[in-house]
Amino acid sequence: MVQHQSSQNEPGTPASFRETITRLGPQIRPFAPRLIAGFLCALGAGVVALTIPQVLRTMVNSVLHIGGSATDVWVSAAIVALLGLAEAVLVFFRRVFVITPATRIEADLRIRLYCHLQRLPVAFHDKWGSGQLLSRSMADLSLVRRWLAFGSIMLVVSTVTVVVGLWFMFTSSWLLGLIYLVGAVPITIRAFYFRNVFRAASRLSQDQAGDLATNVEESVHGIRVIKAFGRGGQALEGFGVRARQLRDTEIKKARSLSGFLMLVVSVPEITLGVGLIVGVWLTARGELTVGDLVAFFATAAVLAGPVEGIGMLLGMTLTTKTALDRHFDVMDTENTIDSPTAPESAARPEGRLSLRDVSFSFPDTRPGSPPVLAGVDLEVEPGETMALVGVTGSGKSTLLQLVPRLYDVTGGAVLIDGIDIRRLDLDALRSTVSVAFEDTTLFSSSIADNVLLGANLPSGRDPREALDEALEVAQAGFAHDLDDGVDTVIGEEGLSLSGGQRQRIALARAIAAKPRVLVLDDPLSALDVRTEEAVTERLRSVLAGTTTLLVAHRPSTVMLADRVALLRAGRIDDVGTHAQLLARNAHYRHVIASLDDPPTVEDVLQSDSGRGNQP
Ligand SMILES: Nc1ncnc2c1ncn2[C@@H]1O[C@H](COP(=O)(O)OP(=O)(O)OP(=O)(O)O)[C@@H](O)[C@H]1O
Ligand SMILES: [Mg+2]
Repeated sequence: MVQHQSSQNEPGTPASFRETITRLGPQIRPFAPRLIAGFLCALGAGVVALTIPQVLRTMVNSVLHIGGSATDVWVSAAIVALLGLAEAVLVFFRRVFVITPATRIEADLRIRLYCHLQRLPVAFHDKWGSGQLLSRSMADLSLVRRWLAFGSIMLVVSTVTVVVGLWFMFTSSWLLGLIYLVGAVPITIRAFYFRNVFRAASRLSQDQAGDLATNVEESVHGIRVIKAFGRGGQALEGFGVRARQLRDTEIKKARSLSGFLMLVVSVPEITLGVGLIVGVWLTARGELTVGDLVAFFATAAVLAGPVEGIGMLLGMTLTTKTALDRHFDVMDTENTIDSPTAPESAARPEGRLSLRDVSFSFPDTRPGSPPVLAGVDLEVEPGETMALVGVTGSGKSTLLQLVPRLYDVTGGAVLIDGIDIRRLDLDALRSTVSVAFEDTTLFSSSIADNVLLGANLPSGRDPREALDEALEVAQAGFAHDLDDGVDTVIGEEGLSLSGGQRQRIALARAIAAKPRVLVLDDPLSALDVRTEEAVTERLRSVLAGTTTLLVAHRPSTVMLADRVALLRAGRIDDVGTHAQLLARNAHYRHVIASLDDPPTVEDVLQSDSGRGNQP
């Protein structure tokens, strides 16, 4: 079983927070003015909140003073109300300014990730669990958005508010300010420990969430098998184990955060208690005015929110750093299969397919295990149809996947019209080569979209005509009889169609692209004999002008080919016509004898009548 990737790609030193955030620079830069405006609004709101205690100080000192004027009360109350309103307006504008950049950056990162995933080779997808990629492109990037829109700004604003508030406290009384500041010492020390524990737990929980998503994806995908084998209980058990693991990590994360928050909330309260005693004592001695004492405590009340918030925001920032690390793990995975910088193109494209001394091993196979292909030499002439025959597991499907460069050869070369396919433009190669794989993959869109997926039709060519032609060759006329004809949307992965119907749609898709080189992995395996005959009949004329490499599991499919190549132990053992190989190659006779060929009705009737003759 393939071990899916879940943790960091390169276990080297993790990037520092600054390095990680700096990498967002290109996405953030275009929105810098709006983000700065949002930040200034948040800062303004913080400062306004802090000025309210100062108004209170003036009010207490002047209004409550013997002989103070009553109108001053109204004026002070009006100022406090206006400041409160100003704070609310600034908070509103902070949101207005930052929401658009944050959502746009999230969408941009998501699109770039998707684009990168599309370009990364199949070998990458073999290794990475789909849930990991799902959680990285959804949950992780939502975290980044929330942090950009709220966390990052509020972390800075809260810090600034706390510093300015402390300064106000010191202006009320340096002794009270100092008492309050002493509380910061245990919080800072604890913050270092918290950061390490929380960061590790956060990475683990996000990775586990990804694994859990893979688990859900896999069991939903395989629900028919799970149900049919009555393995729901076992699937649930496996899921439960992972879900509980995630729960434990989340609890560990929450414990670490709540321990830290307890300190962040309680220490300022304790220092305030001490401050109250000292403050009252100072006021009684006449060293502190009542207004100063009120301002000190009102400031402390304003700071309670930001101080507590810093703990939460620190947690949010660490989680976001993890989310970004996970994002960049994927983004940093190098695309090993790409177009060359200066692609070549054939002077006279004919569609000659050559494999020269091709060897291939899957990445990450155990050292010492034999390669799947070792020294494959094969020439398919332009327009020729070559069948590839071999026992199961001999590497036929693997060989086919080398032609459109789903994997790159590990030795030797695949050439089209004499040019190594690695020197061709990748898009050009993939429109030259068209494929229909063993396991048919259809998408949850219309039949027409599925069939015309890879067809780069020349201008002036009617897509409907190309579609009808392809459906006709693949004997997929049933599509016209569906509720909405060829516009019928087939369910997820085309599961609303039968296996044989899906296979014919996939065959139509390969043909509609009108490729010069056609690669078919046993394209008729799911068809009944009559349909197979009809498809074979129509396919023969299409194949006549197209270079075709065709994996055959049935003698009837072999019959479509001009020549047959026999794959054995990773090499081409023999090439010739079916008759030649039958006559001269014992291994071919063995393979052909073991190929499954369903009996025709005539065969059955004959054997029945034979049996009937027996006494
Ligand atoms: N993605 C993969 N990663 C690692 N090994 C793989 C992968 N796909 C196939 N293999 C291995 O490569 C070998 C050849 O497999 P391949 O699918 O090419 O066989 P095949 O000739 O097409 O067989 P069949 O006739 O059953 O379709 C097998 O031993 C298989 O286990
Ligand atoms: Mg195969």
